[in-house]
Amino acid sequence: MPANKVLSVLKYVSRMKKEFMLSELKDHVKDEISIQAIYDEVSSSLFDLRLNAVPMGNDFRITRAPGKETLVLSPEDKELMSSFLKFGTIPKKLQRLIEQYIGEKTSKDWDDPIVLEKIRWAIQSQKAGYWKEGKAKKISYEKGYSILAYLAYQFPVYFIQFQHILYGMELDGLLKTRMKIVDFGTGPGTVPAAIADHYMRLGNAEVEIHSVELYDENIEAYKHIVPEYAKDNLNVKVEDTIKANIKDLKADDLPDKVDMMVFSNVLNEISELSLDEKAALLKELSTKLVDDGNIVLIEPADKANSTELRRLMFALKGSGLNVYSPCSFIWCAGCKPDECWSFEQKNDINPPVLMKKLADCEEPFRYLNTDIKYSYVILRKDRLTRIKYKVPLKAKFARLATIDKFTDKRINIVCSLMSGDLGDNQYSVYKVCDGTSRKQVYVILPFHNMNVENNAIKEVEYGGILKIYDVLVKYNEEKDSYNLILGKMSAVEKVE
Ligand SMILES: C[S@@+](CC[C@H](N)C(=O)[O-])C[C@H]1O[C@@H](n2cnc3c(N)ncnc32)[C@H](O)[C@@H]1O
Repeated sequence: MPANKVLSVLKYVSRMKKEFMLSELKDHVKDEISIQAIYDEVSSSLFDLRLNAVPMGNDFRITRAPGKETLVLSPEDKELMSSFLKFGTIPKKLQRLIEQYIGEKTSKDWDDPIVLEKIRWAIQSQKAGYWKEGKAKKISYEKGYSILAYLAYQFPVYFIQFQHILYGMELDGLLKTRMKIVDFGTGPGTVPAAIADHYMRLGNAEVEIHSVELYDENIEAYKHIVPEYAKDNLNVKVEDTIKANIKDLKADDLPDKVDMMVFSNVLNEISELSLDEKAALLKELSTKLVDDGNIVLIEPADKANSTELRRLMFALKGSGLNVYSPCSFIWCAGCKPDECWSFEQKNDINPPVLMKKLADCEEPFRYLNTDIKYSYVILRKDRLTRIKYKVPLKAKFARLATIDKFTDKRINIVCSLMSGDLGDNQYSVYKVCDGTSRKQVYVILPFHNMNVENNAIKEVEYGGILKIYDVLVKYNEEKDSYNLILGKMSAVEKVE
């Protein structure tokens, strides 16, 4: 029986009936075929046909799925998410699955002292690998303990980190009631687990999760963790991981009509491709993205990875993809991203039990990984941007491109806030950008100058727009950057 025949019968029956059993298709096909064989033929098409298949004994009930509407959160959902993100606790079920996986892989208890010591060693050697740059950076995920180390040390932070990103996108109206997401370089499934968790928390929206990964050890861990975590939740469908090297992927290897593509902490590991080659690859893969879909690129916040991400963003912008956030081009000019080191910060996670056990040793700080700092960009094919504001034609603000002319003078600027507070207990320090800057520009707020007129800088979220009046320009020779010093007479105004 040709697959497309079974599919046409499914399409025909689903046009006639709102709800039916999959076994009914047997009446329409001449050949003898089992219900499971029918399901296997049609299962990958169900999402695009807006159909759901609910297992019922040996059969499946086929029902109409909701359309792709903008996901709108109720006040209760928002409260739930805010409190989850505030505490940053990995759900117990997920912690248990990771512990069970460690038990299965080592044939010992997950908290056996020998197992814990081996994981500590693997964490140390993995961290040493991540710190290398360029061609020297060769990270392998072929050994079982490297995956266990990843699950213990990196996974918890990246899991909560992606939930912050997802929630931000949701508040912006970028998520839909029915989404197809592909996660590239999925590892043991950090991003899919976060997506599954998020959609399970909501209950009124559906997601189909696809993933791509190179290493078998990661794929094995993924299989043990992600589908198990999402099991019994009809609104989350986890597809088998596609085993592939991202650099060799073609758009045809991906499912059709993808709503979101995620590259979390992976592009920096593909040292075989140049920046332009990465941009060309992403552009090619984006042909499988729906017109209002999103590509989310995330990299660690260190200077090397963060600046490289900004360069990649710029190359992608040149290839026709548009930046939704965090950068805004308020003067309608292109920026010079070569030295742009900008990252988002969120509150620390609550370390899971496994992390606490690992840290229960002479050097606990080596095994505690709780702070969330990341660089990201969201790209789109359409022209939607997070910030709509453009500087009005006759506005009296200096462009940061001309800041050298104003050294030791006071100016007014309009800019976006591009970091959390980088300062100490005497000064607050924030990176700012107006999309024209050639050098790094920081706003400095000495604590003794803080007052109601200028402390709005502390309330603006990452990427938000500020007008700053009467600020003193200082050149920092050592860092070849500019500092804008807020005084008692300076004013900071948030642009809504
Ligand atoms: C640092 S981990 C990130 C895992 C996950 N995305 C996260 O954020 O936690 C990088 C992952 O990308 C995978 N990876 C690296 N290069 C790859 C390539 N060329 N093709 C496919 N996967 C790759 C690695 O095997 C690893 O699982």
